[in-house]
Amino acid sequence: MEIIRTVEWMKQVARAAQAKERLVGLVPTMGALHEGHLSLVRAAKKECSPVVVSIFVNPKQFGPAEDFQKYPRHMEQDTAALEVLGVDYVFAPSVADMYPDGFRTAVNVEGLGDRLEGRSRPGHFHGVATVVLKLFEIIQPRFAYFGRKDAQQVRIIQQMAGDLNLDTQVIACPIVREPDGLAMSSRNAYLNGGDRQAATVLYRALGAMKKEIEAGELDAARLTATIRRIFETEPGAAPDYAEIVDADSLEPVIRLRKTCYTLVAAFVGKTRLIDNALIEESGDSFSVNL
Ligand code: PAJ
Repeated sequence: MEIIRTVEWMKQVARAAQAKERLVGLVPTMGALHEGHLSLVRAAKKECSPVVVSIFVNPKQFGPAEDFQKYPRHMEQDTAALEVLGVDYVFAPSVADMYPDGFRTAVNVEGLGDRLEGRSRPGHFHGVATVVLKLFEIIQPRFAYFGRKDAQQVRIIQQMAGDLNLDTQVIACPIVREPDGLAMSSRNAYLNGGDRQAATVLYRALGAMKKEIEAGELDAARLTATIRRIFETEPGAAPDYAEIVDADSLEPVIRLRKTCYTLVAAFVGKTRLIDNALIEESGDSFSVNL
């Protein structure tokens, strides 16, 4: 496994792989890797060679009051885990190389990035789309793997790839959870004992909603009311939003339809966590995928 620290070097390696018609796979990450990230790497390894994992804590997607400085950075552990999985290249550029003085461009996927996470984190998705487009341009992967854990992010990247005729196919992979249901996240490392217990409320709330859907409830307001009721039982967590939205437009729905997401965000102590359920029509009922 080779660790590549400059954009130019990464471009050369990627162009050489393409010249040999190899199927380049990319897994973009900000490091502090956990099983969620590693599941994406395994998916990439099944379909692609070489596999590139990028590790870059992207300053442009953090708000001024957010955790860019204290975001966990575990380069040695991360590269050791990737080596075991047979990753070919780790791309870990510096901020100065990715955003040299005078950098001015931001990618805006209109509409999809303004709501939900975008409303609570203004500018966040401009930062995400900008860095992902840069990674796609530098590496030109045939496939890029993202987690459905960040469902709005995947939807925005897919839209960008389509709108800009990129040759990269965006693949969404399932959410990996801890045994008690908490979705894995690098930010879980911020949770102390009490917070860690309270953090399961996102999964518990989605689980209660799932039961109601399986019992035939289709009304979005009643389903989100159930989610809010579960949050009220957990003093350690403060919900930010809980919405059922169309999977394509990310606009709220009134009744469940073909494919939607229930997206939730909450503060547990100072840590902001997100989670979601994918709801799909199957026959004359709905299946809920946590
Ligand atoms: P990061 O939070 O490091 O996540 C990298 C990828 O891992 C994302 O696609 C995310 O959805 C996926 N992931 C995280 N937790 C997961 C889980 N529990 N199950 C499945 N997949 C999971 O998302 C980012 O970084 C950044 O925004 C990035 C796309 C790298 C751009 O900077």
